[in-house]
Amino acid sequence: MAPARPPSLLALLLLSLLLPQADTRSFVVDRDHDQFLLNGVPFRYVSGSLHYFRIPRVLWADRLLKMRMSGLNAIQFYVPWNYHEPEPGVYNFEGSRDLIAFLNEAYQADLLVILRPGPYICAEWEMGGLPSWLLRNPKIHLRTSDPDFLAAVDSWFKVLLPKIYPWLYHNGGNIISVQVENEYGSFKACDFSYLRHLAGLFRALLGDKILLFTTDGPEGLKCGTLKGVYTTIDFGPADNMTKIFNLLRKYEPHGPLVNSEYYTGWLDYWGQNHSTRSIPSVTRGLENMLHLGASVNMYMFHGGTNFGYWNGADEKGRFLPITTSYDYDAPLSEAGDPTPKLFALRNVISKFQEIPLGPLPPPSGKMILGPLTLRLDGSLLAFLDFLCPEGPIHSVLPLSFEAVKQDHGFMLYRTYLVNTYTELTSFWVPNNGLHDRAYVMMNGVFQGILERSMQYRLLLIGKMGDQLDVLVENMGRLSFGSNSSDFKGLLEPPLLGHQVLTQWSIFPLKIDKFVKWWLPAQSPKMPHLPTPSGPVFYSTTFPIVGTAGDTFLYLPKWSKGQVWINGFNLGRYWTKQGPQQTLYVPRPLLFPHGNLNIITVLELENVPLNPQIQFLDRPILNSTLHRTYLNEPLTHEQMELSGH
Ligand SMILES: *[C@@H]1O[C@H](CO)[C@@H](O)[C@H](O)[C@H]1NC(C)=O
Ligand SMILES: *[C@@H]1O[C@H](CO)[C@@H](O)[C@H](O)[C@H]1NC(C)=O
Ligand SMILES: *[C@@H]1O[C@H](CO)[C@@H](O)[C@H](O)[C@H]1NC(C)=O
Ligand SMILES: *[C@@H]1O[C@H](CO)[C@@H](O)[C@H](O)[C@H]1NC(C)=O
Repeated sequence: MAPARPPSLLALLLLSLLLPQADTRSFVVDRDHDQFLLNGVPFRYVSGSLHYFRIPRVLWADRLLKMRMSGLNAIQFYVPWNYHEPEPGVYNFEGSRDLIAFLNEAYQADLLVILRPGPYICAEWEMGGLPSWLLRNPKIHLRTSDPDFLAAVDSWFKVLLPKIYPWLYHNGGNIISVQVENEYGSFKACDFSYLRHLAGLFRALLGDKILLFTTDGPEGLKCGTLKGVYTTIDFGPADNMTKIFNLLRKYEPHGPLVNSEYYTGWLDYWGQNHSTRSIPSVTRGLENMLHLGASVNMYMFHGGTNFGYWNGADEKGRFLPITTSYDYDAPLSEAGDPTPKLFALRNVISKFQEIPLGPLPPPSGKMILGPLTLRLDGSLLAFLDFLCPEGPIHSVLPLSFEAVKQDHGFMLYRTYLVNTYTELTSFWVPNNGLHDRAYVMMNGVFQGILERSMQYRLLLIGKMGDQLDVLVENMGRLSFGSNSSDFKGLLEPPLLGHQVLTQWSIFPLKIDKFVKWWLPAQSPKMPHLPTPSGPVFYSTTFPIVGTAGDTFLYLPKWSKGQVWINGFNLGRYWTKQGPQQTLYVPRPLLFPHGNLNIITVLELENVPLNPQIQFLDRPILNSTLHRTYLNEPLTHEQMELSGH
């Protein structure tokens, strides 16, 4: 993480020497002939989306090459603000966050770039790409001309946009166009002065030559478009292309037709069916648009993975977090393998433009390993001093994640009973004030789970002085919808019977630091819990003979949790819920040739009697076998019954 500074003149000069001649290069809209012109020649892009932040850095080149070989001449991608500015004024463009290296790799692969820097991106990404530290100011109005929001956006773009300036097409780079905001018309605010401010900022920092555009669904054109910024639209194979392009013509009477997000597949939510889009429907829609002369970006061409805590969520009657896999049923699978959909789309593209000669690289080698038996390291509560070395924060009422500057993951809320409850007494968080999931322990013994959007309660007994622990999981902030201020934690004080519980000790947990530091070999012999339940750490080490391959981690009969390989946070698993049953393990994470690898699992609910895991040679993303999710809120009577 280096302090940001503008590129030096020398760097710009060197770049202009390295890249082809700048003066003849142009990318513009030709309104007389409803087309784009690239260097003065009619041009249409057939593009695909992929997200560098969902792909391990060492595999970027592999994915880009496969996309070029599929016949694409451009890629489209977002820049997630929260991935690059973890704290206000602290920037990270290193390693997997090296955006410029990604632009360069796309350049090497002969791909033009359609850039979507936000500031809001949706992307089914945590908080739609906005940094959660914005919510440390609880009154902020995100995605509006609220001066506090604009000040943060301005200072971020003053760092980001000068970095990409040399990469604009007319400056010798590969960026042909830049999107302003994202589907802004779908956001309730409809604040044109905000959009105008953004467009002005882009113009001030990127100049007048670059093509700026907006993207909206058909219903969003009214509030999402802006004079002087080119209007594009997004829709999928099932939508009526003629009708939607006719509507687009009302806003953009002349110029090329552009579908900026043509959906090749769709996202998955935990607890719902796996989404797919059939090959014939996707190819037919693409062919129709290319016949019309439209430019198209396929969303996604390669989906990738929501590693760590980076998944977003939706609210549709209830809170719906997005799965760890972002495979998206896309033409290039999560593991980067060409699918039948890719070959079918490539066939369609080849009818309209030249496809690079040569075969597509074959699927990567896959590895099978296990079953491996994991060993209990201990309960999460037993490690509290390591997980929160600086100790708890004390507060009469519980504080949110944002208030104590915990962006992601988990916080533990602890209090002691001030009364004795000899009868089962209901414990709950009123006003849907639990964001998002709570694991409740009394004197260290697991009592059960509470969950956002679900009205159920736990029934507890306890005596004065008993220790009540509530571990709260942030399952990812809303990435779409009218309310993007998705605070996390206990947003209301819990109730036990009629008693408002107060006097909390709040432990922000640094689990990822702990996992990196903790080696199973160091773990002391823990007393064996007869039936371990509640949040526990399990781990083991294992060698890989020979070279490592891509593989898919399967945790059969485990419930829900988080898993790390060699300290890298692979993301959430939720075997009990589905549809995703396996986690993609990219081969670069593994140590080959007999070296030891470490797997660490934080299981939040229940460990199977046989605590085993396996590495499979194919993913399972579509299981509908396990249904434990309560789809309907329980009535009060049912709650009381279910507690007994
Ligand atoms: C698609 O929309 C066009 C124009 O509104 C209409 O004429 C046509 O019937 C629609 N097609 C279908 C299959 O609904
Ligand atoms: C989910 O899939 C199951 C099994 O294929 C099916 O019976 C059910 O109708 C699907 N649910 C939805 C909401 O599509
Ligand atoms: C958005 O949700 C938060 C809780 O995360 C709530 O405090 C806030 O009032 C909501 N805002 C609107 C406009 O609904
Ligand atoms: C899940 O996907 C696999 C592989 O595509 C397929 O063979 C299987 O039939 C699917 N299962 C369900 C329940 O849809």
